[in-house]
Amino acid sequence: MTSDPLLALRPWESPEVTSWGRLPMNAVDRRSGADSLDGDWRFQLLPGPDAPVGGVWSAAYVPGVWTMQGTDDLPQYTNVRMPFPDFPPASPAANPTGVYERDVDVPGDWAGRRIVLQIGAAESVLLVHVDGRPVGISKDSHLAAEFDLTDVVRPGERATVRLTVVKWSDASHIEDQDQWWHGGVTRSVLLYATDSLHLADVTVRAAFSGELRVDCRVRNAGGALPEGWYVSGELEGQLLSQDREFDRANAEDDRVSDFLGEARILATVPDVRTWNAEAPELYGLTVRLHRADGTVADTSHHRVGFRDVEIIGRDLLVNGERVFIRGVNRHDFHPLTGRTVSYEDMRADLVLLKRFGFNAIRTSHYPNDPALYDLADELGFYVVDEADIESHDHAHEIADDPRYLNAFVDRVSRMVLRDKNHPSIIVWSLGNESDYGANHDAAAGWVRRHDPTRPIQYEGAAKLDWADPELASDIACPMYAPLEDCVAHALSGRQTKPLIQCEYSHAMGNSNGTLADHWAAIESTPGLQGGFIWEFWDHGILQRVNDGRPVGRGGAGLYDNGVAAPGHRWAYGGDFGETIHDGAFIADGVVFPDRTPKPAMFEHREIAAPLRIECFRHEGVVLGNHQHFRGLDWLTGLWELSLADGRTLTAPAELPDLRPGETAAVPLPFEVPRDGGEAWLTLRVTTAEDLPWAPRGTEVCVPQVRLREPAVLQAAPVDRPVEVDGEGLLVHPLLTAAPTLSLWRAPTDNDELGGMALRWRAWGLDELVRKVVSVRQDGVGVSVVAEYAGTAGVVRHRQVLTAVEGGVRIDEEAELPEAFDDVARVGSVFETVPGLDLLEWFGQGPWESYPDRGAGAPVGHHSLPVDALFTPYLRPQESGGRHGVRRFTLSAPDATGLAVAVDEPRQVSVTRHRAEDLTAASHHDELVPRAGCVVHIDAAHRGLGTASCGPDTFPEYRIPPGVHRWSWTLRVL
Ligand code: GAL
Ligand code: MG
Repeated sequence: MTSDPLLALRPWESPEVTSWGRLPMNAVDRRSGADSLDGDWRFQLLPGPDAPVGGVWSAAYVPGVWTMQGTDDLPQYTNVRMPFPDFPPASPAANPTGVYERDVDVPGDWAGRRIVLQIGAAESVLLVHVDGRPVGISKDSHLAAEFDLTDVVRPGERATVRLTVVKWSDASHIEDQDQWWHGGVTRSVLLYATDSLHLADVTVRAAFSGELRVDCRVRNAGGALPEGWYVSGELEGQLLSQDREFDRANAEDDRVSDFLGEARILATVPDVRTWNAEAPELYGLTVRLHRADGTVADTSHHRVGFRDVEIIGRDLLVNGERVFIRGVNRHDFHPLTGRTVSYEDMRADLVLLKRFGFNAIRTSHYPNDPALYDLADELGFYVVDEADIESHDHAHEIADDPRYLNAFVDRVSRMVLRDKNHPSIIVWSLGNESDYGANHDAAAGWVRRHDPTRPIQYEGAAKLDWADPELASDIACPMYAPLEDCVAHALSGRQTKPLIQCEYSHAMGNSNGTLADHWAAIESTPGLQGGFIWEFWDHGILQRVNDGRPVGRGGAGLYDNGVAAPGHRWAYGGDFGETIHDGAFIADGVVFPDRTPKPAMFEHREIAAPLRIECFRHEGVVLGNHQHFRGLDWLTGLWELSLADGRTLTAPAELPDLRPGETAAVPLPFEVPRDGGEAWLTLRVTTAEDLPWAPRGTEVCVPQVRLREPAVLQAAPVDRPVEVDGEGLLVHPLLTAAPTLSLWRAPTDNDELGGMALRWRAWGLDELVRKVVSVRQDGVGVSVVAEYAGTAGVVRHRQVLTAVEGGVRIDEEAELPEAFDDVARVGSVFETVPGLDLLEWFGQGPWESYPDRGAGAPVGHHSLPVDALFTPYLRPQESGGRHGVRRFTLSAPDATGLAVAVDEPRQVSVTRHRAEDLTAASHHDELVPRAGCVVHIDAAHRGLGTASCGPDTFPEYRIPPGVHRWSWTLRVL
């Protein structure tokens, strides 16, 4: 039996023990002036918390996870299921336990002061000893724990701090979020000192009206409070209690007991600059605690945003406006450090989100590093702050288990106490996927009393009934609800709460189909207010292929543009040898593991456009301001007119002075030439000034309107034979594989998890066998009829090849049997000789686009190297498509090559990979690019949808059986 009282408590198997010796949470910022204890610590990994600590130490970096720092305990990914079989609250006997130790020189001038140790976060159970003495215990892997060391250390002397971190515990059962399992001290460790008379907490409430209320709680570590203390506040350099510009501080309201002081500062700021996510105005507030003689005992700095949040009827209002929530779910993630993210990383995340039109973040599924909320305040985001509770695998049992009651209330209340002063936080979330029980109601009750200024959301409660006011959620916040259900609810007359999906549009692989359809419905249906895309990150960990180890902190530079360097790959579930895992489901974000945006980000950017072209009328273009609070003065525009004949005209745009919601017609800056064919007018909108999240000139959106329809395919036959081989296949000097019929695409994650790929394989679409039926001279052309046989049916395909000026025209017809209902594509595929490395096209671009994800890719003249067309999804799949292509050329540097024109805008892809190459690979690094190009021209291409988790694409983006016809010309340049 251990003599150590912390170990004797066995806190890893006691859900009732949420902490011991841990200080209350508060919102006083102690980061400035603290000593950082970050860096290398002595480290050893024990097989379990009861194992004796040995004499051999290695080193581990703090903050960091040991699972990515060279130990044999490697990352493991599971979604719902727990990685061990034990029922809550038990954990396995084999329980990696990290012991971190370092010496700390306690500054001599801290004599007489109160000394506090802060551990930013440790997962999952933290035990603290100093010089061998037990100091405390804490749980909650995503909140800081503070311990009072005043009586434990001696200023001017050296102390040894030991942090024992137990990986598996009763708490693991309520930290069963869909992410990698790690172990470690994941956020910074600080040591700081305060006067014994100190600010115990500061609560700031700043309203849209300019009213400011600052509530301070004051304590004296020595015991009773001294006589005569008082607090003062200073806002942007103006003393709140003295300056006449502000109302006098309400000093009479101060209440003092022997041991707890409470003081309130009230002020009204005239002409206040209010805060919202578009224009996040902040005021610096300094709160000082004074001794009777006026000297300052303690100081706390805050940034204050004046704003209101309320729900009226079924609308969530910020400053009285029904704002759209263009949100994303964000995990703390980094491909080199796992769960540890630096300030620079967080800032880069948020800057990128701003640039792509996001205005909201759900901190899925736990409180983030405090700096994230500072950044959200500063850059402008609406935040749903979520408590660290997810009991997914044993949700039903735990929601009402009284042994976990403390943990629920502790986690939710500590989050609120820590984060309550951030204007960015507009909603508290009780956690994720934990069913719904009394433990949730207890936590919600605490929040309602403590912070009546913000609504609460909890999907587990809302899902029982989106409208029931008795349930703990003030917001109807479903996940992956079919759009038609959302619209039906909004139209039902039953709706009582704002409907904002906590998760929708699952971004796994090549995904986010129908996002534009969702937003068209949201923006036109009162009661629908937006949602949070799942999710920001593809959580691929950078891994060395040769030894299977995570690269870790030293790996900067070993990736570029979404791709890991040779010899490396982005690891997903199973890649570290885990037997229990959930594979590539961890790679489901709108950015690659190195934060390179996926094409879906451009779709989102356009859907969120602050400035839009409403329509084109004979008097000009009608522009609309789609923001909630701002004018257009931060934007500048350039008109671009793209004509099918290859011309592009540009002219600077005069943006009208529009208030939010207003529209105005502006004249066109140029005459639209009468000739030139199909014509598109684009407004390239960029930032007019340097912003905290974008330098001047950053593209914001590219709204577009069509001015003239496409022309029909011109190709008059000439009297020249077309050469075909004995199989009826076109013989062409620049093609290494003649055009044949293709019905197969490398299944996307949506195709696989949504069950479509299973059907396609069962029908034999991946292995169709071509048999030529007839080859006939047909007028000037050759008519080739072939059958493509699958296991479930035969497709009859007819190709008529006709010589035309400069090349050949190909008219095709495929008749799909009823059995082939809803295939991936119907089209032609061919392959070219090497050397044709540049694609130039007239159509949608430059980004990858698909029939149900094309809003972000304007029609125009685009050009990209073939190698840049492919999107390196972690698990290879259909990739690199371009929607709405009218014609393209594939050329060599000497301008020789191929030119293709199609009968109507079609889905085209040009890559180095056959669909079967992509299908066979499990990681991007396994792909071997072909020297030539694999070209698909599709008469029809199935939408992407989001069926890996949520709704499939809509019926209008699916491919019916029956006859499909398409025509195209192939010419030599
Ligand atoms: C949700 C869950 C997320 C994630 C997502 C699927 O059900 O809340 O954490 O698992 O599905 O990627
Ligand atoms: Mg889950």
